[in-house]
Amino acid sequence: MSKDAATMEKIVSLCKRRGFIFQSSEIYGGINGFWDYGPLGVELKRNVKDAWWHDMVTNPPTGPDGKELQMVGLDAAIIMNPKVWEASGHVGGFSDPMVDCMECKARFRADKVYTVTVADGQTLEMMGDIARFLVKYKGQPTPSGLQPELQASVEADSTEEAAAMTIEAIRGVARTQNLEEWKKCELAEERDSGDHISNIQFVVGKSGQKYTVLVPIALDTGRLFGPPPCPRCHASDSLTEPRSFNLMFQTYIGATATDDDVAYLRPETAQGIFADYKNVMDSTRIKLPFGIAQIGKAFRNEINPRNYTFRSREFEQMEIEFFCKEDNVMKWWEYWRDVRIKWYTDLGLAGDNLRPREQTKDELAHYSKVCTDIEYCFPFADEPQELEGVAHRGTYDLTKHQEHSGKDLTYFDDDAWQLDKDKYADKAEAKKAKQAPPYRFLPTVIEPSAGADRSTLAFICEAYTVDESRPSPELLKFHPRLAPIKAAIFPLVNKDGLPEIAEPIYRDVKKRWPAAFDVKASIGKRYARMDEAGTPYCFTVDGETKENGTVTVRDRDTGHQERIDKSRVVEYLLDKLNIGI
Ligand code: GAP
Repeated sequence: MSKDAATMEKIVSLCKRRGFIFQSSEIYGGINGFWDYGPLGVELKRNVKDAWWHDMVTNPPTGPDGKELQMVGLDAAIIMNPKVWEASGHVGGFSDPMVDCMECKARFRADKVYTVTVADGQTLEMMGDIARFLVKYKGQPTPSGLQPELQASVEADSTEEAAAMTIEAIRGVARTQNLEEWKKCELAEERDSGDHISNIQFVVGKSGQKYTVLVPIALDTGRLFGPPPCPRCHASDSLTEPRSFNLMFQTYIGATATDDDVAYLRPETAQGIFADYKNVMDSTRIKLPFGIAQIGKAFRNEINPRNYTFRSREFEQMEIEFFCKEDNVMKWWEYWRDVRIKWYTDLGLAGDNLRPREQTKDELAHYSKVCTDIEYCFPFADEPQELEGVAHRGTYDLTKHQEHSGKDLTYFDDDAWQLDKDKYADKAEAKKAKQAPPYRFLPTVIEPSAGADRSTLAFICEAYTVDESRPSPELLKFHPRLAPIKAAIFPLVNKDGLPEIAEPIYRDVKKRWPAAFDVKASIGKRYARMDEAGTPYCFTVDGETKENGTVTVRDRDTGHQERIDKSRVVEYLLDKLNIGI
């Protein structure tokens, strides 16, 4: 559990209570990995997607050369010809290793299950050596014959998280197997083994200190550390060998449901862009460099969806495939990395929680030269987690689709040809040159690929604020562009002609922005409800409005109030929200 797990619980509870996020089909017990956005959540997520579309497609920042960027949009079908997924490598390779518990039927990602092995000092030393051996000779058979005293296992995203869970896991196994010695063990000390895969801890049982070592089972192919018990039910020897599990959801087209009718729900929106890239070029007058953007649903049959909406089975992506020439691709990669970081920062992820991180050589896809993961420190995890990847995909996808479809997907640079064509006096030579680089080639691609749900969750976590000095201490400090409701209009009391003055103001505001009108409960409670919804401004019509035509405006973040003329409410919001109509 992360240090901020309690904060996360409060955020989840607020999101449910105020209608941001619900568990899907909750009345039937829910369904793991699927979420619904309630009345406030749907507005918030739409604002995230609208902000992305506006800032990346309709009005992107000028390019590194100061020129206007060419961006167009696309809305491709979710189900595509299955050959798309064969070409992209998803049919063959989009899989995670998984293990099943034969006792409790739980399923785990093998690369996220760690064995916790309790042993004496000498055995540990040998295990330490072997752990290093495992890293060096990944997948090689390893020597065996070591006798650990106890084995437990945990499922975790990182060695650090696994380390934090070990004591509970050891106690769980001790209870299941009745090992008195370890039922009440405590952590004595923790030491990073320095090899990034294992972690050494000193634990104290009844009869003194022992050691544990943590190793991911996916690396322990020789099962040196023995078959680990199930991380959930702790049954021993109940986990299957790791098996490859394709993450694509499969369905059938038409009534016969034979193997020939298999189709997939898309696991990413990107391939729709590559498949339509030629249509876009042929139907517009667009020239390199240019980008095609798409927002849409993607589906992955994640083995263990977790951390709220962070890893879901149905989610939305906001993806750009930016096509450019190979010789200036790094300039475009840097451009998109910086633009994307700035986008998150401008919308409120401005503090230390946003952490761009360049992928190491080991992490990069085989076709990718560089990739920056834009990560965010969510309260549920001790380490930053990915919101978006800005990747250099080279010509990988277009090459594959060209090969598999047999269609020519090359780009012809007519501008370069017009400049150079007179250099070729010989007609045959000119014809040949025209069909080859630098005039005809497959463009190189930079892909900023973001998750709409992960961004929305990050904006919620960042906005979540507790201010104990307020009567109702929880509030969401959303950036005004993202706030689901931009303004609320309150008559102080539901009589004395005040609702009649407030209603026209409300009607005027809601012509431009989502607004709320509320006459019920005390004014303090109404402010508190709007604070929890993240509404930046509340306007109150009171007795003084009748005398001098002014209303109060209350600022969500400061609680500060001022009076303005009631005729200036829209003007005030236009100025303060600064988000246009
Ligand atoms: N086209 C490249 C691609 O799909 P990815 O890193 O697999 O790359 C891109 O996904 C983004 O989609 C991630 O950074 C994340 O924001 C989002 N995403 C991926 N899997 C997700 C899941 N199971 N639940 C929610 N969002 C997910």
